Amino acid sequence: MDLTQRNGQYEIPPQASKVLGVEFSGVIEDMGDQEVDSETFYRGDKVFGLTYGGKRAEHKLGCQTFTYSSMLLGAYAEYVCVSTLMIIHKPEAISWEVAAGIPEVWITALQAMRVVGGFEATKSILWHAGASSVSIAGIQLSKVLGASAVYATAGSDAKLDLCKSLGATDAWNHRTSDWEQELKKATNGKGVDIIIDFVGQDYFQRNLNSTARDGRVVIVGLLSGPKTQGPVDLSLFVKQRIRVEGSRLRSRDLTYQKVLRDILVRDVLPRFVDGTFNHRMEKIFDWKDIQAAHLLMESNTIMGKIVCRVT
Ligand SMILES: NC(=O)c1ccc[n+]([C@@H]2O[C@H](COP(=O)([O-])OP(=O)(O)OC[C@H]3O[C@@H](n4cnc5c(N)ncnc54)[C@H](OP(=O)(O)O)[C@@H]3O)[C@@H](O)[C@H]2O)c1
Repeated sequence: MDLTQRNGQYEIPPQASKVLGVEFSGVIEDMGDQEVDSETFYRGDKVFGLTYGGKRAEHKLGCQTFTYSSMLLGAYAEYVCVSTLMIIHKPEAISWEVAAGIPEVWITALQAMRVVGGFEATKSILWHAGASSVSIAGIQLSKVLGASAVYATAGSDAKLDLCKSLGATDAWNHRTSDWEQELKKATNGKGVDIIIDFVGQDYFQRNLNSTARDGRVVIVGLLSGPKTQGPVDLSLFVKQRIRVEGSRLRSRDLTYQKVLRDILVRDVLPRFVDGTFNHRMEKIFDWKDIQAAHLLMESNTIMGKIVCRVT
C-alpha cells in the first residue's frame, strides 16, 4: 500500500490522508471527544492502532491547531489524530515496535479469512504470498482456529520454510513449481475451501481451477496486475459454485473496522502475550532512513514487517 501510494497509483479513500502510513504505536498526548465504546482511554495511555478518520475537523495540540484531514492521519508522522474506536491499549509484554506492526496485517488477515472468506474450523485454506506479513498472520490464525489444512505459496525456499514453521501443512515455490498441480495432488483433486489471493491477474484462472465446491476466493491484492490476460472459464463458477469477492480494509467505514479491532483484541492479542502467535519483524529503521526502508520493501526479499522508529 505504501509503495503504490508513493507511486501515485493508490486510490486514497476520502477520509484518508495524503501522508503515508496507516498503523502506529505511541502515547496519547491529548484527547478530544471520546467515541462511545467499551474501551476508555486517557491522556498518557500507551496505545497502538490504525489511522482511521474521526468526526472532528480540527484539534488543538499545545499552541497549534491541526486540521484532521490534511496532515494528522498518516502514520509516517510524529503525531497522529485518530478515532478512539481504532486504538488499542498496548500490553506491557508487547514492544512499541511489535505493536506498531500488528494492526493492519492481522486485521486484514482476519477480515479476509473470517468476514469475507467465511472461514470456520475444519475448512481448508490457501494463502498466496505466504511470507507476506498478511499471510504470516493468516497462516497462524488458520492453524489456531482449526483449519483442516493450511497451504501456502511463496517465492523462495527460505519463505517456504517459514510458512511451514508457522503451521502450513504444505507450501510450494511459485517460481520453481506448479502450485496448482501440487495443490490438486495434496487435496486428491478436490481443491481447497478458501483461497486468499494478493496476486490477481496471474492467479485468477488458477485460483478458480483450485477451489473446492462451494469454495471462496478472496482477492485483497493485485500484485501481478488488475486484468486477466487470457479468457476466464466461467463454467467453474457454476459447476463448482465458487464465490469470488474482493475487499479493501482502508475503504471500509469506521463501524466495520471497529468490529475487526474488537476481534483482534479478543482473539489475537492474548495469543501474542502468551507467545502462541509469532509476529515477524524484518528490520527496524530510524524514520529518517525511510528511503532505505522503502528500497528494502521493494526488494521482495522480506519476511515480516519493516518498522520505523520516530526519534
Ligand atoms: N485489501 C486490503 O485490505 C489489504 C490490506 C493490507 C494489505 N493488503 C495487500 O496484501 C498484500 C500483502 O501485504 P504485505 O504488507 O503483507 O506484503 P509484504 O510483506 O510486502 O509481502 C508481499 C509479498 O508478495 C509476494 N509477491 C509480490 N509480487 C508477487 C507476484 N507478482 N506474484 C506472487 N507473489 C508476489 C512477494 O513474495 P514472493 O517472494 O513469495 O513472491 C512479497 O514478499 C499486498 O498486496 C497489500 O497491498 C491488502
